[in-house]
Order: sequence, then structure tokens, then C-alpha cells
Amino acid sequence: MNANLTINYDDIIGKIDPRLWGSFTEQLGRSIYTGIYQPGHPQADSNGFRKDVIEAILKLKVPLIRYPGGNFVSGYNWEDGIGPKDQRPRRLDLAWKSIETNEFGLHEFINWCRLVNAQPDMAINLGTRGIDAARNLIEYCNFSKGTYWSDLRRKNGAEEPFNIKVWSLGNEMDGDWQIGHKTAEEYGRLAHETAKAMRIVDPNIELIASGSSLHNMPTFGKWEETILDHVYDDIDYLSLHQYYDDYDHDIAKFLASSEDFDSFINDVIAICDAVKARKHSNKIINLAMDEWNVWYHSKETDAQQKPWQQAPTLLEDHYTFADALVVGGLAITLMKHADRVKIGCLAQLVNVIAPIMTRPSGEPSVWYQSIFYPFMQVSNLGQGLSLKVKKEVKAYQINNRDIPYVDAAAVYNSKKQEIVLFIENKSSDSINLNCSFNNFDIQKLLTSTTFSGYNLDLTNEQQVMKLRTSKTTSLEDDCLRAQLEPYSWNVARIK
Ligand code: AHR
Repeated sequence: MNANLTINYDDIIGKIDPRLWGSFTEQLGRSIYTGIYQPGHPQADSNGFRKDVIEAILKLKVPLIRYPGGNFVSGYNWEDGIGPKDQRPRRLDLAWKSIETNEFGLHEFINWCRLVNAQPDMAINLGTRGIDAARNLIEYCNFSKGTYWSDLRRKNGAEEPFNIKVWSLGNEMDGDWQIGHKTAEEYGRLAHETAKAMRIVDPNIELIASGSSLHNMPTFGKWEETILDHVYDDIDYLSLHQYYDDYDHDIAKFLASSEDFDSFINDVIAICDAVKARKHSNKIINLAMDEWNVWYHSKETDAQQKPWQQAPTLLEDHYTFADALVVGGLAITLMKHADRVKIGCLAQLVNVIAPIMTRPSGEPSVWYQSIFYPFMQVSNLGQGLSLKVKKEVKAYQINNRDIPYVDAAAVYNSKKQEIVLFIENKSSDSINLNCSFNNFDIQKLLTSTTFSGYNLDLTNEQQVMKLRTSKTTSLEDDCLRAQLEPYSWNVARIK
């Protein structure tokens, strides 16, 4: 099979916001405890932060991290996580039926974010709480001094305000599993009033409203329209969450997830713009895909977990090579929507549906999942202008939709003056790729890697999966040529 791609310098989709490659850490399972925080571990620093985990996260260059949930936030009292650790309350976390010791809280999160070079995206509880807790929290975090909450922050060791810029107004409020689940009307009103109060305290913040938890939620569409009626003028981003699974063990269908992801994004953009038109507004609402990943391997065992444990093993999916291809495909879709999707959070970061896994003891203390590799490549190299890629390639059909066997994104990085191509082969056959460039002065192939050749069901506990240099990629007559291996993720950098 052949695939012909064409890239024009002038065909720009939009600038990729670096925050597209953010992530998420929730007070859930071993995400925090024995994940990023484990006092006493040989790799822990004096604050209990695991240096081996920090080193792994720095490789992923995540610029933004959402916290503390997730479902957890909808029952969380943020005040439980401040002040002397020995006085913090042990609480029931109703979302995950666990015990929360609150040893790790707000200051710990902010200090840790500085070590991993990420800015926080702070989620507030609009499940069991509301305007009052939110305005106190933002006063605590962002007001300089001279008031009850700002002075309490100073007393707790942070003289300077945290100046948190990005805030999420609740989490998955459309889902009936959510503590304090709301109708769209109820959430819309509450989000509007909360945003109003928060902006009075700090007018410089950016706000994300809670959109649909999945593309196929029964309230999808109506939820967005209704809440946007209330919050259109208050918010900057509308969130959307999406996880994929392969319960059918059908690789063709699983790899088509990127096209469903694409439709979901298109649908939400259409709704935002329809509300814009109806409101005669000049304001554009952008999107925050603030939870996305594959999630299903752990669901059965999680259902059997004993409740009310401290930092239990939960949501510890061990990702396969097929999952890595799906994550790569989803990342390509995100780049294709760089004009509207400004924030993304791979859910999550450590241990819980995560690219990075830790062992509480023993060696190696950290291991990389299969999905680590495509995500590392997009977060490091998917920076700059996203360009349209025209494709001539055969497609297969899933649910009456055409799924091209090759999917691709192209990014022009003006600082480095290089083009990066991300190309996925969704076919069980190898494909001859020809990619031509219009209006570019192409001179050199800098690097070319492939992630391929593994059994689709292989997981990476033994750390066998690696990026390899592609031997078949070359630059001839201003054209990039490659033999794409079956089921492969490929990245080429060209100058
Ligand atoms: O990321 C795991 C969970 O998935 C989050 O807590 C929730 O927001 C979503 O349903």
C-alpha cells in the first residue's frame, strides 16, 4: 500500500499551546502516595518527593498539571490539606472509597509543581461545596497579604502568593457517579456565581467549565448548551473528557478511536460556536481536553478492591503496545485541533492510568509504560505551528466512518526552524510513504524514529519497548520517503 502526504507551509491550523501536553494527578490510589510522594523512600528528598519520579516527569515536559481531582475533588475540603501535617484530618474519600490522610495537600502540590516545571490547574469542589469555599481558596492562593486567608498561607510557610492562573470549575458534574452531581441548570448557575466571586478576588485567572464526561453521555449536547447559556461570559475554556477501551479486542476498531475523538472535538466546537452566534458574542470559547487516555484494563480488579484502604492499588492499567498506538493517534487528533483545543491533560501521570509507574520498594523504582513513548515525543516535539496534512491513502470502515490507514500531524517549530512529522500506520501491512513539502526549503533529515515491531498485547513491565531509529526513512528530491512498519508510530524531524 502507498500513502502520499502533502504539507504546505501556508496551510496553518494554529499555534500549539504548550499546555496541550499537560497532565493530571488526583488524590487517588497510588497517584500521590507512593507515586510522587513517599517520605522514607531511598529516592525521596527532604520533603518526601520522589526524585526518581521527578526525573521521569521532566522527560515528559508536562507544562500544566490538574489537581486534586477528578472525582475526588467533588467531596474534598481543601482546608484539610493545609497546616501542620500531624493535625490534618483523616477523611473518607467517597469517590474512591479510600482513606485520605491529607498528608499531601495544597502547599505540597505547589512546591512539587515547581520541581517538575509545571503550572497548576486547580480544580475546585462544586459537588459538596460551592462559592464560599472557592472564594476562600483563591484568596488563600492568590491574594498577597493582610486578610485572614492570605495571612494563613503566609503563616503556613508561603510568603508569596501562589498566583494560580488556571482553575477548573468542578469535575464531571454531568455524571451521576459524581458526589454532588447536578443538572445542567444547577451546575450552570453555580458555576456562574462561583466564577463571578473568584474573578472579583483575582481578575487575571482563566476558568474552565465542566463539560461532558464522555462523548456518549446521555446529556451530551444539551449539557453544553445549557451550561454555556449561564457561563459563556465567565469562562475561557469548556472541558471535555474521553477514555477509550478495547473490550472487543478489535484492533481496527480500537485504532479508530482517534476519529471518534475528532468527532467529539468537532461537536463541542460546533456547540460553542452555535451559542456564540445565538448570543451575538465576539468571544470564542476554546476547549480543554483535560482528561484523555485509554482506560479499561484495571476496571474488573478495581471493582473487587476492599474499600477504605489508604493509597490502594486502583486504576493501575498496564498498557499494551496497542494502547500506545491509540494514545499516539489521539495526540495526532489534538494537534489537528490546535486552533481550538488549548489545554490537554493526559489522565493521569503516575501509577493511576499513567505513563509512569513506581514500585514502592525494590528496583527499578520507576518504569515506563508503552504510552510513555508517544506522549514524550509529542510533548517534546509537538511545539510550534500545527500544519494541515493532505493525505491520499486507503481507508477502512468502522461504524460507517472512513478510517485512513495512515494518520499524521505536522508541526513547524520556527525557533528551531524544523518540521516534525508524527505518522501512524494503522494497518497490519507495511506502507510506502511519500511526503512532499510545498514552500519549504527542505535540506536535511535530522532524526527519524519508529515505535513498532511489538506484539499488540505486549505490556512493558520488563522495559523492552524502546524507540528505534528508522533505517528506511530518507529525504530524496525534497520528498520524505519511508517504509512504515505495520502498526507503527513514527516521528521524523526535518530541517
Ligand atoms: O481519571 C480517573 C477518573 O476519571 C477521574 O477521577 C474522573 O474525573 C474521570 O471519570
